Amino acid sequence: MKNVKLICTGCDKEFSVNELHYRCDECNEPLELEEAKDGKISKGNLLNQTILDRYVDFFPFLDINDEISLGEGFTSLVESKKLAENIGIKNIYFKNESQNPTWSFKDRGTALGVQHALKLGYRKIGTVSTGNMAPSVAAYGSKMGLDTFIFVKNNIAPEKLNPIGIYNPNLIKIDGDYGKLYYESLKIGRENDIYFINSDVPFRVEGSKTIAFEICEQLDFDMPDYVVVPTSAGGNIRGIEKGFREFKNCGLIDKIPKIIVAQASGCDPIYRAYSNGDERISRIDNPHTIAHAIENPFPPSGNQVLRMVRNNGGTVVSVADEEIIRAQAILAQGGIFGQPASAVPLASIIKLKNDGYIKESDSVVSIVTGSGLKYTAALDKHDLTSYTCKLEELSEYIREIS
Ligand SMILES: Cc1ncc(COP(=O)(O)O)c(C=O)c1O
Ligand SMILES: [Zn+2]
Repeated sequence: MKNVKLICTGCDKEFSVNELHYRCDECNEPLELEEAKDGKISKGNLLNQTILDRYVDFFPFLDINDEISLGEGFTSLVESKKLAENIGIKNIYFKNESQNPTWSFKDRGTALGVQHALKLGYRKIGTVSTGNMAPSVAAYGSKMGLDTFIFVKNNIAPEKLNPIGIYNPNLIKIDGDYGKLYYESLKIGRENDIYFINSDVPFRVEGSKTIAFEICEQLDFDMPDYVVVPTSAGGNIRGIEKGFREFKNCGLIDKIPKIIVAQASGCDPIYRAYSNGDERISRIDNPHTIAHAIENPFPPSGNQVLRMVRNNGGTVVSVADEEIIRAQAILAQGGIFGQPASAVPLASIIKLKNDGYIKESDSVVSIVTGSGLKYTAALDKHDLTSYTCKLEELSEYIREIS
């Protein structure tokens, strides 16, 4: 490993990157890798590079194990001129993270986490998840032949359980307070030599930096005004903001976009703390939203996301389930089928434009974090139509309706 430190986001205490540390032993806030101060994008053939090869200067590894990669990252940035016109803004781009190997952004952080785990000599990995992180960690663990432990909620639906089970990890349904499992898993990990790649551990945050790096390259380093990220634990948005900060440090961009934290009103602890002017988040009782993937009532990086967004100058927004479903349909009209959580940024953009926060002259990037096929139950909320027709009447029928 290069000579870089892990630094506490709360009190600046330093920790070694050659040992497994997730959170500060003084103030319990999440740790973050020291910012890259200089670096450049590697040249090379994009078709056979991994994200780690391309952005190696921005990571602490002296050598990269390419075997770990499943081809994560390098996802499309899709512009929708029609939608920008309808919303009344200059440009809107969708970073389509459903193109990742297990159909969500989680694969970036999992690839980085496994890279670090193997460097430290771990042969056991794990995670706590009800959604996208579980299949991601299970897939990478399976590829590398690691002993993989996945803790899920007891009442998880088969639609979510089976796409984890197919990779054959140690899949454990936990009967008990799921909210306590994040911290419990870190303890179990320490006792059993399991590297838990949970939602906001430092190397998962490092993986999300590559979303920002790619956006910079895809926009030819001409920065948008806003980047809008659906936020739950806070790991992904922290990584995206850090990525822009590091490219600015290195002179690759001259402005950091304003970051917008997008939450669902059924579970919006960061929004509530931000609106109240609080420095710390409070737990939400009885969270409930159609955007299940962002339903964390007590996000482990919540306080740090508050500090980050205040420094960055962006804002926090919360949208109702009806706005989310409507945005999911609008996103699909633009050709992209995201899961409800991934429609939260678009719902937020529409709301912020109506409120006058986002202006006509603004360019906005929306992060579509995961695939709509992950949660097909949400399709019941849409008024979807199809027609039935006899084969011999088909020709006439098409003539009529076309
Ligand atoms: C589809 C989707 N969007 C957004 C998020 C939120 O990311 P984070 O928990 O890092 O804030 C998640 C997290 O599980 C997710 O699965
Ligand atoms: Zn600390």
